[in-house]
Amino acid sequence: MSADTWWKNGIVYQIYPRSFQDSDGDGIGDLDGIRARLDYLASLGIDAVWISPIYPSPMADFGYDISDFYDIDPHFGTLDGFDALVGDAHSRGLRVILDFVPNHTSDQHPWFVQSRSARSDPRRDWYLWRDPAPDGGPPNNWLSNFGGPAWTLDPTTGQYYCHSFLKEQPDLNWRNPEVRAAMYEVLRFWLRRGVDGFRVDVLSQIIKDAQFRDNPPNPDFTPGQDPFHRWLMLYNTDLPEVQQIVVEMRRVVDAFSDTHSSRVLIGELYLPLSRLVAYYGLNARGVLEGVQLPFNFQLIATEWQAARIDRLVRDYEAALPAGAQPNWVLGNHDKSRIASRVGPRMARLAAMLLLTLRGTPTLYYGDEIGMTDVPIPVDEVQDPFEKNKPGMGLGRDPQRTPMPWSAASNAGFTTGAPWLRLADDWRTLNVEAQSHDAGSMLALYRRLIALRRAQPALKRGNYEALDAGDEVLAYARNGEGQRLVVLLNFGATSRPLSKALVTRQSIVLASTDAARAGFIKGPLVLAPYEGVVIST
Ligand code: GLC
Ligand code: MG
Repeated sequence: MSADTWWKNGIVYQIYPRSFQDSDGDGIGDLDGIRARLDYLASLGIDAVWISPIYPSPMADFGYDISDFYDIDPHFGTLDGFDALVGDAHSRGLRVILDFVPNHTSDQHPWFVQSRSARSDPRRDWYLWRDPAPDGGPPNNWLSNFGGPAWTLDPTTGQYYCHSFLKEQPDLNWRNPEVRAAMYEVLRFWLRRGVDGFRVDVLSQIIKDAQFRDNPPNPDFTPGQDPFHRWLMLYNTDLPEVQQIVVEMRRVVDAFSDTHSSRVLIGELYLPLSRLVAYYGLNARGVLEGVQLPFNFQLIATEWQAARIDRLVRDYEAALPAGAQPNWVLGNHDKSRIASRVGPRMARLAAMLLLTLRGTPTLYYGDEIGMTDVPIPVDEVQDPFEKNKPGMGLGRDPQRTPMPWSAASNAGFTTGAPWLRLADDWRTLNVEAQSHDAGSMLALYRRLIALRRAQPALKRGNYEALDAGDEVLAYARNGEGQRLVVLLNFGATSRPLSKALVTRQSIVLASTDAARAGFIKGPLVLAPYEGVVIST
């Protein structure tokens, strides 16, 4: 694999560090824990790990509130430990991607402490400060994703500061060139330490309207919905000016790319397709100068039906600018787990879909063993989203529970008390148990990843939509002299497939059903919820 295209050919695996592996018995996962599991990750066949934030943080939003961009939080380890992790990962051929959180800092970050100290402070303009509205209330109607207004009054200086998330997460002022320079320096610091790229948090929101205008009402808003959706985010998300920043970030990162290692930017972007693809940064010369991988969350949002997914894949393929690398995601630390959204059987189909579509797949830790959302009792809730808007199903603790490694105490995650409870079924649903079971989800993931690595058409072939009738999602991947056909039966009944799709010479390379493989002798009948990859 040529170095400059690892992020095109490879598979990304997201680690939520608090919950992956604890090494020191404090019940919280850490860097040494990840390091101890590198052999597992390498054996899975993934190419890169993206680690959610590990920087010093008061943990109001579990690391997404950063108080120092240049260090490691003591819960997670030390800079030396980080260097050791990067070294060990690289020696196994694994890349390391960090989370970069440019939209906001912690309110404990020295920059904000200074900024709020006085209106005349040189760092005042590093954040978004506004006078109160004439009635003394917030300057405009912008809302915080986590509930309430996006503005908090600072009594000492008599102004409001803007926060798109918690009041403990004040938004930086990206119109200020000093802020940009300081944040680009943060990128360089970690690039020099050898990181292979960044997943950029809430990228679309980092620039706000210069006039701070009110957002217009959302005509589709229905009472009972999360009140956050009352207004359309016209003036605080996806402004044209963000594109310039994206280009600047890309230049910073590109300066560290060479023939041995290309560095990648992955943007967190919850946007409609037409806007999402803008973040590839296609310029007038036809060059893509934005983020290489604007996260594509279509499979998280969609209704789980063959026809829907067929449509969205084709729409996505059609919307991509020339030369753009597609990417696909089934889940992350903010969304209900795939096995809970679609059920355990469909989750097997989802795995095959993710690993056979055209584009870089990102796996969320634990999905490879079919982890489900874990209900968290009210008195154990950790996530501020749930605490601020209780009972609306917004809390993210359920998808952030500790990884069950084995049937040892606390599932081998910790020798202490886990910071978040384990799933009830950890004694049976764990990595160790599934390692010995050819029918397990883990075994399926291993087969699919190995197949993707071995078949150039899966990595680099084109995408050709096929028609295999109702409830069967069908497509071919053609390239490098190969034609692979993927057939996914979303239905609860068996499906005989037409001879046009499956010939006498066809070989089943993989099935969601562990028992099936080899030459197809008669007509192929897909079992309920079965998916197959066929070489024709
Ligand atoms: C992103 C993160 C989420 C976090 C938020 C604020 O959406 O994925 O976990 O709470 O940004 O930083
Ligand atoms: Mg620990």
